[in-house]
Amino acid sequence: MYTAEAKNLRYKEGKDIELKIQTNRPLLLPSAMALTGLLCAVLALAAVQIANAVPQHNKRFACADGHITSNEVCCQLFPLVDQLQSDLFDGGECGEEAHESLRLTFHDAIGFSPTKGGGGADGSIIVFSDIETAFHANGGIDDIVDAQKQFMASHNVTINPGDFIQLAGAVGVSNCPGAPRLEFLFGRPPPAAASPDLLIPEPFDTIDTILARFSDAGFNASEVVALLGSHTVAAADTIDTTIPGTPFDSTPGLFDTQVFIEVQMRGILFPGTGGNQGEVESPVPGEIRLQSDSELARDSRTACDWQSFANNQAGFQTAFRAAMQKMAIIGHDRNSLVDCSDVIPVPEPLPATAGPHLLPDSVQGDIEQACATAPFPVLAALPGPATSVAPVPPS
Ligand code: HEM
Repeated sequence: MYTAEAKNLRYKEGKDIELKIQTNRPLLLPSAMALTGLLCAVLALAAVQIANAVPQHNKRFACADGHITSNEVCCQLFPLVDQLQSDLFDGGECGEEAHESLRLTFHDAIGFSPTKGGGGADGSIIVFSDIETAFHANGGIDDIVDAQKQFMASHNVTINPGDFIQLAGAVGVSNCPGAPRLEFLFGRPPPAAASPDLLIPEPFDTIDTILARFSDAGFNASEVVALLGSHTVAAADTIDTTIPGTPFDSTPGLFDTQVFIEVQMRGILFPGTGGNQGEVESPVPGEIRLQSDSELARDSRTACDWQSFANNQAGFQTAFRAAMQKMAIIGHDRNSLVDCSDVIPVPEPLPATAGPHLLPDSVQGDIEQACATAPFPVLAALPGPATSVAPVPPS
């Protein structure tokens, strides 16, 4: 007795086609001759269906709950996305957990080197958290690792942790107005082992070291700058522990280009105690600046890329999405994963009041020009007196 089922076939051209051979009844096979005849019939039917097949990216599958997706296996993710929004992201906020979840996508994925090992975006930071959260570069990451582990346990999440981390990151980013809608590919196997230590860049590393580390993991300098744009929705808890939640730009709730502008402004103060490893002076009270961000904005290999995003929201979105697409599948073969991007909510655009600007009470001369081939874009300062940037509240 045989029952034929729906199968997805993948062809070398990179296009998926779906072959559905479904029977309502079991097939009874009385003899070898009948079996041969049946196989011929099935193959003939398959040939017809292949000829009429539609590429996967054009497919629309209706889930039982009414969601439409390109692949049936993605249906299980829609309720999980809703739970993430309500129970991890405080009803869909671009707040602390969304920021931390984005950071976690990086700290899991970058744990990969062709020579030193590590499985990349495999969830090892969750499964082997006792080992990986102890790495120096993972300071403060234990909060979101614990939160995601608890979420997975309390919501009976059955998808693998590598998938879960990248899904949570993409959903969290979607809560930040101005963000691109990130790709989400589904199907990472469980991790085999913990990542080796010393693969995650530190804010006090030199640009040589940072670029070499990213290059080892497959990223060029332009992609590094695009990825670092994530610090537009970010704050630090551990650089200066006296001022937890201190953001890297003045708009940590918006996925805008302010981080590229404000990191390029002359640093004049430490928002807290100062003298901390990996920290340099920032341009405004309440804002913290990483040494690595500061140097990437000023190094001849990266300064022009950094500057290019300062007033180019669309370019930043495109470059960030492309770099994240690559980062999220480090250690995996893209062709072994299923595209479930349509489960990711569509982010709001930036509010009409947002837009690239200098901080209040500052002038164009406060920008430290570093790109040798093009001037920094001319920007107006926000009206009003100099202000202080508020911390990102804990939730
Ligand atoms: C040279 C590379 C990088 C360095 C040195 C670096 C360093 C840091 C540091 C020191 C913090 C503050 C952690 C704390 O004290 O709480 C931080 C936060 C953050 N990083 Fe990075 N980072 C890098 C690249 C990235 C990348 C590639 C991403 C994502 C794609 C990312 C996303 C974030 C986010 C979202 C936060 C904020 C977390 C929060 O608000 O809790 N970073 N990063």
